[in-house]
Amino acid sequence: MLHAAWATGQHGPPIPAIDAGHPTRLAVSRMDLALTHLIETRGLTKHFEPRVPRSRPWEIVRRRRASQSPGEAIVAVRDLNLGIPAGECYGLLGPNGAGKTTTVKMISTLLEPTAGAALVCGYDTVRQGADVRGNIGVMFAGERGLYWRLTGRENLELFGRMEYMTGSAIRARSARLLDRLGLTDRADQLVETYSTGMKQRLNLARTLLHDPPVLMLDEPTAALDPAAARGTRRLIRELSGEGKAVLLTTHSMHEAEEICDRVGVIHRGVLVAEGAPRDLIRAAGLEPRLELRLSGDLPAARTALGDQALWWGDAADDGSIEAAVRAADGWRTAHAFDERLRRAGATIDDARLRDATLEDAFIKLTGARLENPFGRV
Ligand SMILES: Nc1ncnc2c1ncn2[C@@H]1O[C@H](COP(=O)(O)OP(=O)(O)OP(=O)(O)O)[C@@H](O)[C@H]1O
Ligand SMILES: [Mg+2]
Repeated sequence: MLHAAWATGQHGPPIPAIDAGHPTRLAVSRMDLALTHLIETRGLTKHFEPRVPRSRPWEIVRRRRASQSPGEAIVAVRDLNLGIPAGECYGLLGPNGAGKTTTVKMISTLLEPTAGAALVCGYDTVRQGADVRGNIGVMFAGERGLYWRLTGRENLELFGRMEYMTGSAIRARSARLLDRLGLTDRADQLVETYSTGMKQRLNLARTLLHDPPVLMLDEPTAALDPAAARGTRRLIRELSGEGKAVLLTTHSMHEAEEICDRVGVIHRGVLVAEGAPRDLIRAAGLEPRLELRLSGDLPAARTALGDQALWWGDAADDGSIEAAVRAADGWRTAHAFDERLRRAGATIDDARLRDATLEDAFIKLTGARLENPFGRV
């Protein structure tokens, strides 16, 4: 059962910062306050060498004999420059395969860049990996990263020890985090009995346990139910409000619009746009749009709307169809279309005027198509 404060989306008690940090590592609160960006990347680039599937070993031999390379390298991230200051929640958005997770892996020292550099709290991820790891909390999508044969609380105990936290600091902070993430009731059960969303929430607790100044969250709400996702979004806002630098990836444009101060859109490894969500929508030159439900002579309606139409839906059982059109002049545009469609023998059954959203900007920037996002099959 979800914790009441969690389910209702209320704030709940604040999670106290820990004082017993890592004795051998430098916490950012003690660092040079003039440091502007807690996360910084300069020309960050990652190529993956192509690999031949193990099921086709003869292919490797054949290519070696012919002195051929196994294929072209995949450029997952290309010349990426990011700067994320303390207190900012930055959303990295992009279609599947755009390079988001690869970026997070490089910044969190799990992957070495092919070129360029990433810095966390001023530490270089390649040369000062241990210092970087001491200052970050990183969480990836999926169910890995926890010990399934331990309970939730035991997992936190183990990870706290790995971060050199004292027993009492681990116990106090685990209790608060488990409560805040709605897991107190299940804390003493084995993680293998948890649902996917519970494992994801425990993973978030693990990420926050040592109170790092930098958080990197790869799709933190992907598997969560709506109430838990809302609770997580609030928590992320609070954490950036406390001064943490947060880098998150998400496929939810609504989430990015709600919690991110800035977003970067990455497409095929390249950062194609960056800014506050509102600015990005404006910069994409997007107009409001009119969503219509039409009936009557639909082929004639298609001709009448011509290239003003942004998309067409599928015909419903009652023969009506949904379409969206550009509406720079708002309802005035609607009246003009009403007239034109009536002459063509179609009627508008329903009309809604919608402001452009981050999703519209995303689709425009990444060239994805609403009708068939995967292209030709
Ligand atoms: N270990 C790997 N070896 C080879 N190619 C890889 C590897 N990991 C990722 N890639 C490739 O790098 C590119 C970027 O992948 P990445 O996982 O960073 O995308 P993503 O933006 O996180 O996508 P998603 O939204 O699906 O999570 C993809 O073309 C992917 O196939
Ligand atoms: Mg990913």
